[in-house]
Amino acid sequence: MNNIKSNSVLIKGMNPLSGTVSAQGSKNATLPILSALPLLPEVELYNVPDLSDIHEMLSILKHLGATYTFDNGHLSMNLENLQNNDVSFEFTSKMRASSLFMGPLLSRFGKSTVGMPGGCVIGSRPLDIHLLGFEHLGATVDNNNGIITSALKDGKGLEGEFTLSFPSVGATQNLISASVFSPSTVTLHNVAIEPEVLEMVNFLNKAGADITLKDHNTLVIKGVPKLNKVTHSIQPDRIEVFTLLVAGIVSKGSVTVVNCEPEHLSSPLQALVQMGAKIELGDGSITASYVGKLEGIKVQTGVYPSFPTDCQQQISVAMLHAETPSVLIEKVFNSRFRHLDELQKMGAKIKIENNVAVIEHSDLSFATLDSFDLRGAASMILAGLSSTGITKVSSLHYLYRGYEGFVEKLNHLGADISYV
Ligand code: UD1
Repeated sequence: MNNIKSNSVLIKGMNPLSGTVSAQGSKNATLPILSALPLLPEVELYNVPDLSDIHEMLSILKHLGATYTFDNGHLSMNLENLQNNDVSFEFTSKMRASSLFMGPLLSRFGKSTVGMPGGCVIGSRPLDIHLLGFEHLGATVDNNNGIITSALKDGKGLEGEFTLSFPSVGATQNLISASVFSPSTVTLHNVAIEPEVLEMVNFLNKAGADITLKDHNTLVIKGVPKLNKVTHSIQPDRIEVFTLLVAGIVSKGSVTVVNCEPEHLSSPLQALVQMGAKIELGDGSITASYVGKLEGIKVQTGVYPSFPTDCQQQISVAMLHAETPSVLIEKVFNSRFRHLDELQKMGAKIKIENNVAVIEHSDLSFATLDSFDLRGAASMILAGLSSTGITKVSSLHYLYRGYEGFVEKLNHLGADISYV
């Protein structure tokens, strides 16, 4: 991996960023596709971001017997000799997405044994919807001290209908891959339709699956006997793109991101426009510019196409620079405001009550900050870019889970950030 330099950075703030950078491939699109690879014999993936989370997933695939090369965004993998090894806590404690191996292993081998996952500390993250779906569609599920064993009854594949109680991204992905080899049809209602979910559907269909989205949030999965080798390029990372655009605005500059898909960011871009930033869309590019005072707004996170929870921490930094107060309501996770406590060390004026934060205009000054989660780490760097003095942000291993060469991209745009 080439993007880990150090676990801390020093950021000299108040440099207006300007220029153009390119979006990385999407982390959240790549992870579920990697987890679904046990369904295929072989794959060629392009635009795969070089991130610690990707390497964790690759180590699980290696443990299962996959052989691969990964170089410069190109992953070439053979999965013909896969074995149904247990995916133990050793692998799953590090990341939530490891739970996405349950469905594909269940599909390919009729049984999967996977430890309960870890991941970023952003609230309770149960798997009840995933497991209820497996059971409802015809598998047995056994939880032995956090080791989950799912098995097909009499080796018979999943079939029938299941309605998710909440459109969970991960549960939708796990249930899709668990159903690909159904002996008949699986219909999933109230599914997540995030671009990363639809990319996984598109990827599996290219490999020979038969999955159709109906009425906006129903997926009909007609079983097929096998999937084939496929070549696929990963979509741009909409969350990284948004983070870079906010960096342009909070530094009072202008940043263009190319190789991105503006339509994936409608709601967050609308929020920036409402705040008074200038947003210009091109063919696969977005420019965000600071053009005068920002206004406070109300943002509530929700499932796609609402404002994504993964952009909430970044926009909170823009809200600190608005002339009027903003209200930020987190509806997806129950503990995703810890970064705001940290930003208060810089003089941020924020009142938090449960999942509602009222954010007032604040003159940020340097501080020493410690990150707790991926997007929180990015938001602290954004705050450092827009504060006086030199801010230190540490525990950057969280940042490297999701951003490839983030510091280098910001420095290319004119930031003054150094590793320590
Ligand atoms: C994925 C994304 C993550 C993003 C989130 C919401 C990846 C690798 N991660 O995470 O970046 O923030 O979608 O867009 O793609 N829930 C349950 N029971 C379940 C499953 C989920 O209660 O069985 C709850 C969670 O606790 C959470 C909410 O549903 O409060 C959303 O979770 P979910 O959509 O599943 O997110 P992830 O797939 O974990």
